[in-house]
Amino acid sequence: MYNQKVVDYFMNPRNAGKLDDANAIGEVGNPTCGDVMKIYLKINPETEVIEDIRFETFGCAAAIATSSMVTELAKGKTIAEALKINNKDVADALGGLPPVKLHCSLLAQEGIQAAVADYYMRKDGKLPEGLTFPGNCTACGGACGGHEEEEEERFVSEDHRVA
Ligand code: FES
Repeated sequence: MYNQKVVDYFMNPRNAGKLDDANAIGEVGNPTCGDVMKIYLKINPETEVIEDIRFETFGCAAAIATSSMVTELAKGKTIAEALKINNKDVADALGGLPPVKLHCSLLAQEGIQAAVADYYMRKDGKLPEGLTFPGNCTACGGACGGHEEEEEERFVSEDHRVA
């Protein structure tokens, strides 16, 4: 099902684990399957270059291989360059994924976006114009990680009132 490169990046993940001196952490989940990825960045505040990067992923082989690959693609890049990496770039760099596993590569793309959003929230208390937090609410760009649930609950209770 997987090509040799995917198997290699799954069996021998690059940059796996925690990064103790990270100054940005992103955590994303794949709504399709419930798998999760956490990504740690050490960003140089002067140059905005990603100097170090690690990941922890609880997921399928494709999720681990794509997490591993995105750390290699993003390391040494500026934040702006890293934000341009999309899930297709990651899948292509691995020599392709089976079509049914393409959704798994979204974790890698969104993990970087989430970590960069966290970097700006820590630094400025807000996100720069045009940057949104992947898969989350619009109230704060989602950086709190909690508004989405609150909005869902509110939606449910309003629905009940109408009923
Ligand atoms: Fe969940 Fe691949 S099946 S990320």
